[in-house]
Amino acid sequence: MDYSRFQTLLGNRARPETRWVADLAGVSQTVANGFLEEMNENLAVEETIRNTLKETGRTYYAQFPAPLELYGITRIVKPESIVESGVSSGISSAHFLMALKKNRKGTLHSIDYPTYSLKPKRSEGDISWSIPYGKDSGWVVPSGLRRRWKLHKGRSEDLLRGVLKEIRAVDIFCHDSPWTSRHLAYELETIQPYLRSGSIVVADNSSWNPAAVARLAAAFSTRVLRRGTSDLIGLRVP
Ligand SMILES: C[S@@+](CC[C@H](N)C(=O)[O-])C[C@H]1O[C@@H](n2cnc3c(N)ncnc32)[C@H](O)[C@@H]1O
Repeated sequence: MDYSRFQTLLGNRARPETRWVADLAGVSQTVANGFLEEMNENLAVEETIRNTLKETGRTYYAQFPAPLELYGITRIVKPESIVESGVSSGISSAHFLMALKKNRKGTLHSIDYPTYSLKPKRSEGDISWSIPYGKDSGWVVPSGLRRRWKLHKGRSEDLLRGVLKEIRAVDIFCHDSPWTSRHLAYELETIQPYLRSGSIVVADNSSWNPAAVARLAAAFSTRVLRRGTSDLIGLRVP
């Protein structure tokens, strides 16, 4: 896709990788590119998000490295249920929700155990995912996108099982919460029984526990697809 208009809004890191979307969603690169190009319809939303972030004094709040790909995958898969772990300011959530709005179906369940900044002004060394003073998880998600969103606040260790029992199947799961070997293994093992044919799992910082990712892939005899040389991986249940 032509990324030039997104460059200043999302930075170089978020330049989408069409092949990754295509391979993950099981479509051609031409089809994947068509869905990514659709994001041009959302440039005004991206600008609103960027301006909201700026109001707090910084524009980087632990955003997911591949937001446009989340949009593209969600448009292709047309999920009933998405579950994500790790919200922070809500960049990944907003991109899932833009796609669900366009799909006119589906629900995003986001789990977040926020870390609040207790000071009105940001200081050097604040952790990148801290919630600015007076704000809460997902604070940059525009109100027009919230209709298909259920935000569950608390630890994924306490909430994930309950959410899964409620929805019964997960079409897309996105892991972007604490990067520990144990936590990644816990989430992948917990969601496994709720995945079905066509379900997609993406996980950032997968190098904390490559064995847990490999076990999930092996359980479904599928491949782990890495986004470029990054730590972000995805897999699709055949
Ligand atoms: C890397 S940030 C998420 C970034 C977000 N996906 C985005 O696109 O900007 C990780 C988030 O997980 C939250 N978190 C920390 N421990 C958690 C836990 N045990 N369960 C769920 N979320 C947790 C953090 O407070 C933070 O909001």
